[in-house]
Amino acid sequence: MRVDVVPDEAALAVRAADIICDVVRAKPEALLGLPTGATPIETYRELERRAAAHDADFSRATAFAVDEFAGVATDALGTNRAFFDRYLNVAFRALRCPDAATTHPGSHIRAFADEIRRSGGLDLCVLGIGVNGHIAFNEPGSARDSRARAVALTPASRNAHAEAFGSLDRVPVSGMTLGVADLLESRRILVLAQGPAKAPIVHAALRDHQGAEVPATWLQSHSDVTWLLDGAAASLLSGARE
Ligand code: PGA
Repeated sequence: MRVDVVPDEAALAVRAADIICDVVRAKPEALLGLPTGATPIETYRELERRAAAHDADFSRATAFAVDEFAGVATDALGTNRAFFDRYLNVAFRALRCPDAATTHPGSHIRAFADEIRRSGGLDLCVLGIGVNGHIAFNEPGSARDSRARAVALTPASRNAHAEAFGSLDRVPVSGMTLGVADLLESRRILVLAQGPAKAPIVHAALRDHQGAEVPATWLQSHSDVTWLLDGAAASLLSGARE
């Protein structure tokens, strides 16, 4: 496990984009798992800048959303599809997102995970971390061997998306997610966290024993994980560079 601490959001975006671009340069047809949330927005802008300047070419790479809401229109305001449409204007070969409007979220997300496996698996999975330790929509209680599935969203996660959906009552009560075991099958994992609110959960994810209570602790068992943190998110770690 590697922990990289950078001074601020701008530096985090540059470093994250460096890592993503290196993967795609080494393997142009790479499969990437990508998160939504406030954290990766600057990174995605940086990818857009590099693609526009022809410093990076994603035209043979495929991006897969790691999760999606369920029970709303495919591109309703607040969905991950709407997020990617707005914040990630990069010409991938394809940007695949589970369909929030599916009437069978469980079988839909299992088929989505199967497609990733059949295509060769994720070369790099980028993740954020929720303040409750979730990774993708693997909320507290998610086992290490959990697979792609439909999930009930916690009040904390629904609250975090109230603004994007317009109000809390518009946030779906369920979602679809790649499971912890699916995420751990990625060849490489990059976790992004910034800001002081993430400091306690980053500390727990890196230092606590592995367990379902903090799903991000399961990442300790992966052989190629990089935690990319700004100084505020890393502030409770002693000797942060590992
Ligand atoms: P955030 O979300 O980037 O908006 O903090 C992270 C997450 O919940 O995974």
